[in-house]
Amino acid sequence: MPSERTRSNPPAPGLPASSEVIVSGIQPSGALHFGNYFGALRQHIQLHKTHEAWYFIVNYHTLTTLRDRDKLRRYTLDVALDYLALGFDPEAACLFAQSDVPEVTELAWIFNNLTTVSQLEKGVAYKDKVAQGLAPNAGLLTYPVLQAADILIYGGTLVPVGADQKQHIEMTRVLAERFNRTYCLEDDPVFPVPEPWILSDVAVVPGLDGRKMSKSYDNAIGIFEEGKALRKKVMGIVTDSTPLEAPKDPERDHVFTLIRLFADEETRTRITEAYRAGGYGYGHAKKELLRLVDEHFAEARLRRKDLARRPDDVLDVLREGGRKARERACEYMERVRERVGLITTYRDAP
Ligand code: TYM
Repeated sequence: MPSERTRSNPPAPGLPASSEVIVSGIQPSGALHFGNYFGALRQHIQLHKTHEAWYFIVNYHTLTTLRDRDKLRRYTLDVALDYLALGFDPEAACLFAQSDVPEVTELAWIFNNLTTVSQLEKGVAYKDKVAQGLAPNAGLLTYPVLQAADILIYGGTLVPVGADQKQHIEMTRVLAERFNRTYCLEDDPVFPVPEPWILSDVAVVPGLDGRKMSKSYDNAIGIFEEGKALRKKVMGIVTDSTPLEAPKDPERDHVFTLIRLFADEETRTRITEAYRAGGYGYGHAKKELLRLVDEHFAEARLRRKDLARRPDDVLDVLREGGRKARERACEYMERVRERVGLITTYRDAP
């Protein structure tokens, strides 16, 4: 059984304490975009060599909205490719498909019984999806319960995500506390109560139209888009109609918000000054953004093309990650079953 982790190590500036157990997930529901990258993936890559880390591709979650087996398989492998291309080292941490740890659905079932329907009906993501016209199926409603199981089954203490996941992490905290209170002695809780890790400057990355970048709003720029397709997207970012020669406020422009994510301090200052001085149009800013994007992802694009030719290697990474993750999950589940009073007779058999 994994021991309770102490939080005594002082963190390096800006970094979580080295004792934190990092867990996070991404849906395989289509090409990952800049919002996924800056809001979550970049932090996942950043932390996986210095911390214990578990990253899962949440294909069970995606069943709530996707009913196409070929796409689900393809997108799952694509997310794995993205991680590897962006620098994830499978020797350093675990990357796996959620469905390789079916125990997570068992824990979600146990948590379902500690959750009221009215709590779930208040879910912002649930209400948003229903408002978009998606059928309010039970999977969609209980989505945050499965997410709580994802986090807690590995003993996660810190969850790097974008701001849109805040409510889900809050529900996870409530469930961890409720489970511990219901089934554990005060000095022997099963689950740590995790915290979200949300970086304020990338909490909500805007899309082409200025709303939150999202696959479902059709306003996303894919991490691995390039060439003409990328150019068309960037040139299509909505701007106001301030004329070229007039001074502009960079803080009110989506192009600049994206530039800020990619640019170093010096470039940022230079472009900020150009906006304020006037004579610098949104077209100039968009070209600058294109250059920065190309530069930022140049190496990752090459790596991804190379990896895409070796799909078996990608599957091997998922297989090994899944094996380790399942082992860890089963340790937790043994304890959970015992606390809840679920008999598993095969364990008692002679
Ligand atoms: P998903 O797949 O929608 O998004 C993956 C991650 O990307 C972040 N993100 C953004 N961040 C900033 N700006 C944006 N425009 C933006 N769009 C997406 C999300 O916040 C997320 O961190 N419910 C999760 C998947 C999940 C999960 C988990 C996450 C399932 N189980 C356990 C953490 C822990 C989701 O739908 O992410």
